[in-house]
This record gives sequence, C-alpha cells and structure tokens, in this order.
Amino acid sequence: MRKKIQKKINFFKYSNCFQANEKQILKGYKFFLNDNPIILELGCGKASFSLQLARNYPKKNFIAVDTKINRLSDGAKIAIHENLQNIIFLQMHIEQILLHFDYHSIDTIWLTFPDPYPKDRHEKHRLTNLKFLNYYHYLLKNDGLLFFKTDNKQLFDYTLSLLKRIHWLPLEYTYDLYNSELLNSDNSIPTDYEKLFVSQGKKIHFLSLKNCDKPFENIPLEPIPVFSPIRSWIPNEKIWNLEPLNLYKNFQNILIFEEYDINMQFARTPDFEKFFWILVKGEVCIEFVKKNHQAYCIKFNHFGDKIDVEVHDFKIYAITIQRTLLVKIPRNIEISINNLVH
Ligand SMILES: C[S@@+](CC[C@H](N)C(=O)[O-])C[C@H]1O[C@@H](n2cnc3c(N)ncnc32)[C@H](O)[C@@H]1O
Repeated sequence: MRKKIQKKINFFKYSNCFQANEKQILKGYKFFLNDNPIILELGCGKASFSLQLARNYPKKNFIAVDTKINRLSDGAKIAIHENLQNIIFLQMHIEQILLHFDYHSIDTIWLTFPDPYPKDRHEKHRLTNLKFLNYYHYLLKNDGLLFFKTDNKQLFDYTLSLLKRIHWLPLEYTYDLYNSELLNSDNSIPTDYEKLFVSQGKKIHFLSLKNCDKPFENIPLEPIPVFSPIRSWIPNEKIWNLEPLNLYKNFQNILIFEEYDINMQFARTPDFEKFFWILVKGEVCIEFVKKNHQAYCIKFNHFGDKIDVEVHDFKIYAITIQRTLLVKIPRNIEISINNLVH
C-alpha cells in the first residue's frame, strides 16, 4: 500500500509524467522540444515496450498512455534513470483522447494487449471497437500506422471483422507473430503481458494498418469535444508548484507581453463572478471565476493575432496561442474587466 502511494507521489513529481482529463486539456501542448514523429502506445501498463522503442529510436517521440498511475510511474522512473528525453507518460482515459490530441497529429499508434472485454455488454470498452477505430483514424496522419498485438483470438477476429466492415483493411496480419514473416525488430519487443502469454505457450496475433484519407463511410465521427480546434491548456497542478523558470524549459515559445497592449472582447456577456488578469515582468495569466458551469467564449486579440478561447470551468488556466504558452504566475495584480476592454 505504501509503495503504491509512493509511486503516485512520484508520478506527480516526475517531469516526464502528465495527466490529461476533462479539466486538464492538453490539446496543443508541446510535450517535446522538437517536431519528431509522435508514437502513442495506448494501454501501455508499465510501458516497457515504449521504453525499448524510445531507446531504439532517439529521433522519435513516444507517449505512453494508461489510466493507471502506478504503472506509469514505474516506466517514468526508468526513463528518468536512463535520461530518455524522447518519452513521456500520460495518465488519460483513451475515451477522452480527442480532447487532448489534434487531428492528424500522430504518426503511429500501438495497441498492445488491450483488455479483451469478452462480454457483449462490455464491447464499448474494447479499444478496437468502432468508436475507437474512428478516433485512431482521426488522429493518425494520412499515412500513419496502427499496430495491434493481442493473445486473444476473439478480440482479434472481432477487430478484423470490424475493419472489413469499414473498409479499413489491414496491411498485413498474422495469428502467430513469432512464426511469421511479419516479425521484425519492433513488433518482437515483448510487452510485460506478452512475456507472460508467451511463457504460457499462447500465440501472439498481430496486425498493422495504414491510415487512409478517405473517411469511414458507415461510422459518423462522434462530435469532437467542444475544445477542438481551440488550443487551451489547463496546467497540471504539480507544474504550478515549480518555479516559473522551470516551466519555461517545457515550451518552445514563451509569449512576452511588455505592456497592457491587449484587446479583449467578449463574445457574449460573461456571467462570471471574478476575472483576473495578471501581467508581471512579461508573464501573463488569465483566471476566470464563474457563477454557473456554462462554457463561454472570449475573443482574445493580441497584436492582431486572433484566437478563440473556450472556457469550460473555473480552474486556473493558462492558454496557448499557436503553441505559445502564456505563463501563469502568482497573482499579485487584480484588474476588473472594464479596465481591460478598450
Ligand atoms: C492487459 S494490460 C496491457 C499492458 C501493456 N500494454 C502490456 O502489454 O504489458 C491493459 C492496460 O490497458 C489499460 N487500459 C485499459 N483500458 C484503458 C483506457 N480506456 N484508457 C487507458 N488505459 C486503459 C489498463 O490500465 C492496463 O494497464
């Protein structure tokens, strides 16, 4: 129990761990300081697989995703120990992935031994159901790749049959990876679960797909969460505990405001209680405090660069404009709205 708690504490301390949820929207957030290809492993567990890929491909960026903080924390510790800069660990429910990643932003997705959910009534949780396939199709670049490994024949057959239905056909697949010509230096890296399955004599099923730009005909894309394509970022609380200067190294651009040269117009009458605008030594933060829970939209005009920001709750925010972070700093100036609208 104590170990579990310690892992959790570590997760929030490690600089390579992030949390994404409906309150912490990471869309537009730059996890890496370069534009190298991004590879996601969904349901990574302790992420041994992604860690090995990260070691093998220093010019690619890896994002290991799971809901379980403890498992991610184990992987993150290894990455820190080995000083692997091209991998981060993201606690997120894959159901919310469209909240946090942009259209056509991902080069490769690995689904490694997802829970099979054999009961019909649990189909909605299978990471290869139509909804999720549609998400992957949306997130992957046009020639982006999806790889799927499982020991579960039922889940594999189910996935193949869905793919045929939506005309997104596998490039290649096998029911016995380790006795197949498809075995290569990537798909032969065993995950933790895989080691167990192989030791039990189970066959490993594998398929790969290439994304196509043709939309799926018979599945409408579920409405994209309200924030797309708005770039907003709600800071991870742990980051706010750091000195602002530590924060800088995570971002490519920091927008420097030198004076109150900002024009704010409200798209509709805002129904908030408090509004704080903070600007000190070139750093800026907007904090909203709202009476009800309705989202509203503000137009933010900075030196002619217009962006929309949708606000959906009243945590402290920082926002990004074209991958530029507006940094939050401790509040020490408070200005009313009227002072801001020119
Ligand atoms: C069977 S384990 C496989 C772990 C790892 N890929 C491996 O092969 O060793 C499945 C993992 O998927 C994660 N998972 C299941 N559903 C998820 C979801 N909706 N969002 C994020 N992670 C999920 C679980 O927490 C678990 O760690």
